[in-house]
Amino acid sequence: MKFKEKEYLSVWLEKPYIKIINQALLPFKFQIKTLKTINEVIYSIKNLEVRGAPALGIIGAFSVALSYYLNNKNLKKTYFDYSKITQSRPTAINLKVGAHYIFSYINNSKQLPNFNDVFEKAINFQEKEINACKKIGDNGFNLIKEIYENKRKTVNILVHCNAGWLACGNYGTALAPIYLANKKQIPIHVFVDETRPLNQGSRLTAWELHNEKINFSIIPDNNAGFLISKKIIDLILVGADRIVKNGDVINKIGTYMVALSAYHNNVPFYVAAPLSTFDFNTNCGDDVTIEIRNSIEVRKISGFYKNKKISISIFPSTYNAYNAAFDITPAKFINGYITEKNIYRHVSKILKDYGKSE
Ligand code: MRU
Repeated sequence: MKFKEKEYLSVWLEKPYIKIINQALLPFKFQIKTLKTINEVIYSIKNLEVRGAPALGIIGAFSVALSYYLNNKNLKKTYFDYSKITQSRPTAINLKVGAHYIFSYINNSKQLPNFNDVFEKAINFQEKEINACKKIGDNGFNLIKEIYENKRKTVNILVHCNAGWLACGNYGTALAPIYLANKKQIPIHVFVDETRPLNQGSRLTAWELHNEKINFSIIPDNNAGFLISKKIIDLILVGADRIVKNGDVINKIGTYMVALSAYHNNVPFYVAAPLSTFDFNTNCGDDVTIEIRNSIEVRKISGFYKNKKISISIFPSTYNAYNAAFDITPAKFINGYITEKNIYRHVSKILKDYGKSE
């Protein structure tokens, strides 16, 4: 994606180090950060400087390659780092998929592979994920086009969290069809849930849409149900951190409430995700570890003042707070899953076609 006329990925490799666009500082500061150690990588993952399921997968792959290099091919030490990396955030399956892709490549090679081959393998993983997102855009675009052909007026789309370019390396999942529709001059308006407490919607999705010159309105999360009930929203598109065997979707906290409201009001609700987000080894949403984050993120809001990030308390520190980062949307609320292969009504078909081979 372009920012100020320059093409960027949100995470990339400058061998042997990893570069990221620091998502914790956006939209006020555009900073490229270089990660040179595994501790720096883990800090960035935990503090959401790099975030979003596919981007976590990519950094998972890059960081195991970096560990192998830093540990000079010592497999035991690389395994230790691999375990630490995969445990740094528990919910998005992509982090584990990306890290495992590289660790198993190293571990299963007859001889310890050379550094360049390992880095190239990690770059292949990145390319595969980014290609998948591009295809998700093509497939999801058809939904928007169909609505426009019936309506012949601006298509209103609601999104939650950030499932865009930043979250995926490029293109996005839920945002990829929106970017394509805009390119093909379909009139769209995007309602962006601000996504409390860390505001991935109002900080990141809005920043991306602004760069792409797409019309949008940021809404407080509790406005979504109202807009859905008033039939103002034509389509809801969200991403996913994990999709399990029975079709339940684990995504940013608040997704469940949006899906519930969409189901009640008969508004189409679609989940966009690459096959790497599907976890066929887990039966249902309740079996997934939901990350509970520090309550400080609820207690304080952050912003920028005189070019510096500041946080202020919004209620007394003696009050209790609770901060689950993800929720579970039952399969029955979901109209379809937009993948790089096709749009599917049921996960069982995806499992049948791709569950074993990829
Ligand atoms: O806590 P975050 O910001 O990493 O949560 C991200 C989400 O919930 C996204 O919707 C999901 O990873 C899909 S990104 C394409």
